[in-house]
Amino acid sequence: MGKALLERIDIEELIQHYYAGKSTTDLTKLYKCSKWAIDNAKSILQKAGRIQFRGQPPAGAGILGRIPDFTKGKALKKQINEMYNIDWEIKTSTRMADKDKGFTVGMLVADAHNPEIHLPSFNIALQVAEDINPDIFIDLGDICDYKSISPHVRRNGQVKQMSEITLQLENDAVNKYLDCWGARLSKECVKELFDSNHTAWVKKFLEKNPSLQCDALDPIKAWHLKERGFKFHGRNKIVKRGKVSYCHGDLQYSSSSAYPALTLMQKYVHHNFICGHFHILQRILSARAMDKQPYEGCVIPALCKRGQDYTECRPAPVVNGFALIYYLSNGTFFLQPHVVKEKKCIVNGKLYKG
Ligand SMILES: [Fe+2]
Ligand SMILES: [Fe+2]
Repeated sequence: MGKALLERIDIEELIQHYYAGKSTTDLTKLYKCSKWAIDNAKSILQKAGRIQFRGQPPAGAGILGRIPDFTKGKALKKQINEMYNIDWEIKTSTRMADKDKGFTVGMLVADAHNPEIHLPSFNIALQVAEDINPDIFIDLGDICDYKSISPHVRRNGQVKQMSEITLQLENDAVNKYLDCWGARLSKECVKELFDSNHTAWVKKFLEKNPSLQCDALDPIKAWHLKERGFKFHGRNKIVKRGKVSYCHGDLQYSSSSAYPALTLMQKYVHHNFICGHFHILQRILSARAMDKQPYEGCVIPALCKRGQDYTECRPAPVVNGFALIYYLSNGTFFLQPHVVKEKKCIVNGKLYKG
């Protein structure tokens, strides 16, 4: 496929497009061929040494050329607003958390993968947050897609082509996302964010490119987490709150399938747990005689849309949604995952439309 393509096109021109940052999708349109043909052609060129892998970009091109251009901030912000083409207007809520209600409400979200966010689901989650006024807000990680520095390797071992998304654009998207939450969560709301596999790419990237260390590559600084009052839980952290443990879900031993993840989480967390990372909804409830006490585990649905580059090659469905958790004062909890279907979701008997 790739060979046939290379025989009929101008290879030098393809190389130029590659270094200019054209995505696989752009190239398929340009050369009127399949994505696989482009990928194979790139693979052939990489093996022949005609184009470089992501890890060794030529000076001034590829990833080095894409490190944030801070002069473009305004234009990119406009681009982000256009991309997030939803109503960002915020209804001002005056309702404060009712301290005497006898329970605490937590809003749990995961895998927003900004700017690859699924806007209808995000819109619904924001409306729900506005209505329920949570006491706790936990983002279980993968808040940023970090496609700009992704080391993701395709299944054939070929390093993925640089995307057109810049780090600046991604940071702007995350900040926009956090602004939206910040405007809807009360001052008293406890806000937490988990480090995750995508955030960990920053560390890997800086190990390879230490001279590129900058605030834009520091999630805490780039997303103003301190100023926003967010607690940032480090890599592979398992945080216990009441009778539940939280983590991103990509524990060292977990695999890409949610089934072993649940089993392994059970094994390593030894407790009720809630995680994200798998972009689906899955629950486990166990009250067998051999268990010392009943436990519950849940992978909560994602806020991102389907079709990030790393999922488009496999039939991985993305289940959109979020979860609400209600804690009683003794730490006992009730978990309610909510799935968004066809841009709709029913929470507490109310229909929300995204
Ligand atoms: Fe994720
Ligand atoms: Fe993840």
